[in-house]
Amino acid sequence: MALLGASGVAGLTALILLLVEAASVLLPADLKFGIVFDAGSSHTSLFLYQWPADKENGTGVVSQALACQVEGPGISSYASDPAQAGESLQGCLEEALVLIPEAQRRKTPTFLGATAGMRLLRQKNSSQARDIFAAVTQVLGRSPVDFWGAELLAGQDEGAFGWITVNYGLGMLVKYSFTGEWIRPPEETLVGALDMGGASTQITFVPGGPISDKSTQADFRLYGSDYSVYTHSYLCFGRDQMLSRLLIGLVQAFSNFYYTFHFLNLTSGQPLSTANATIWEFCQRSWKLVEASYPGQDRWLRDYCASGLYILTLLRDGYGFSEETWPTIQFRKQADGIDIGWTLGYMLNLTGMIPAEAPAQWRAQSHSIWVATVVFLVLTLVTVLGAASVQLFWVQD
Ligand SMILES: *[C@@H]1O[C@H](CO)[C@@H](O)[C@H](O)[C@H]1NC(C)=O
Ligand SMILES: *[C@@H]1O[C@H](CO)[C@@H](O)[C@H](O)[C@H]1NC(C)=O
Ligand SMILES: *[C@@H]1O[C@H](CO)[C@@H](O)[C@H](O)[C@H]1NC(C)=O
Ligand SMILES: *[C@@H]1O[C@H](CO)[C@@H](O)[C@H](O)[C@H]1NC(C)=O
Repeated sequence: MALLGASGVAGLTALILLLVEAASVLLPADLKFGIVFDAGSSHTSLFLYQWPADKENGTGVVSQALACQVEGPGISSYASDPAQAGESLQGCLEEALVLIPEAQRRKTPTFLGATAGMRLLRQKNSSQARDIFAAVTQVLGRSPVDFWGAELLAGQDEGAFGWITVNYGLGMLVKYSFTGEWIRPPEETLVGALDMGGASTQITFVPGGPISDKSTQADFRLYGSDYSVYTHSYLCFGRDQMLSRLLIGLVQAFSNFYYTFHFLNLTSGQPLSTANATIWEFCQRSWKLVEASYPGQDRWLRDYCASGLYILTLLRDGYGFSEETWPTIQFRKQADGIDIGWTLGYMLNLTGMIPAEAPAQWRAQSHSIWVATVVFLVLTLVTVLGAASVQLFWVQD
């Protein structure tokens, strides 16, 4: 009787523990959302992120639910009609709202960060820049979200947040190991980030030695580790600026290393010599031939030669990549389904979702619940079998 009672208690305990565990695994956890507008020089994008509400301090749980390209040019192009800059954001915002349950909308932190295009405009005419910020603030402020504000990002921030996004997306900051513990991957696995927008270019990495120019250093503490990165932003060395210097004219929408190299089929780790040869070969084709090879397919066709040469020159002669170090460059648009850029790192930082100290509690807790469940299951099995054999003996007797 006592044995049966014990087995009952142990069984019940195991059941309760299993239910507790199952509840956190099987029931759809509440999702939380965040919106970041990336107001670049040539266009604006909206990113909608989502994560399980109970795991907000974990890592690798934020996913990208939507990337929406705002119609029209970058907000800095609306200097003569600031109100339009605000209105232009409506379409993407509505697309995002459809994906957010009504009850969550008011709790959805929403940010707008403007980069090089607005930095240039502010230098040129600060009152125009102010009017544009006022217009976007007005539109986002009256939308049914938790609008935190619109601001101008410094080039360094752009680089630092881009670095956080990439390393977060690749699981390089903190990783959930198969033994059920949070581990910090070795520092050597951290990656540097290079980014080329429409009007600026950023480079960010953990340097091998001390940083002598403190204005290029960014320090932060993430998950209990201190990071000191070198970050530099070169204004006016973005692609569009380079092209307009070449009098080709300002092109809209479309940026960066990835698209150009993707078009040229150079994103799968080809050696520098191949990249060099491919770009020169492409540039030497007659325009007639190029047009005929890619009929009506690509409105940026005319830019790939200049763009390709520029990227090659910047990486090789500017940043000093050599034949040996070139293969370490990965031309990527995404890491783990998340678009590479500063937006995710920015949101994670502003919402405090990457804690300064290492997260310990919830994974550890679920791990110990699991261990306890197994122990109780074994105990139940032992007592049940014990009771059965006693009964068996008793019947035989
Ligand atoms: C995440 O961290 C913040 C600040 O450290 C804390 O206020 C919040 O309760 C934490 N959330 C969870 C789910 O642990
Ligand atoms: C800046 O723009 C405003 C409004 O378009 C204009 O009135 C003003 O003269 C401009 N200032 C300068 C310094 O160009
Ligand atoms: C890239 O590869 C595709 C398919 O292999 C080919 O059709 C295209 O012409 C290549 N592009 C260039 C610029 O060489
Ligand atoms: C993140 O935000 C905090 C303030 O919340 C700020 O002190 C810190 O410098 C930011 N991190 C980076 C990388 O800019």
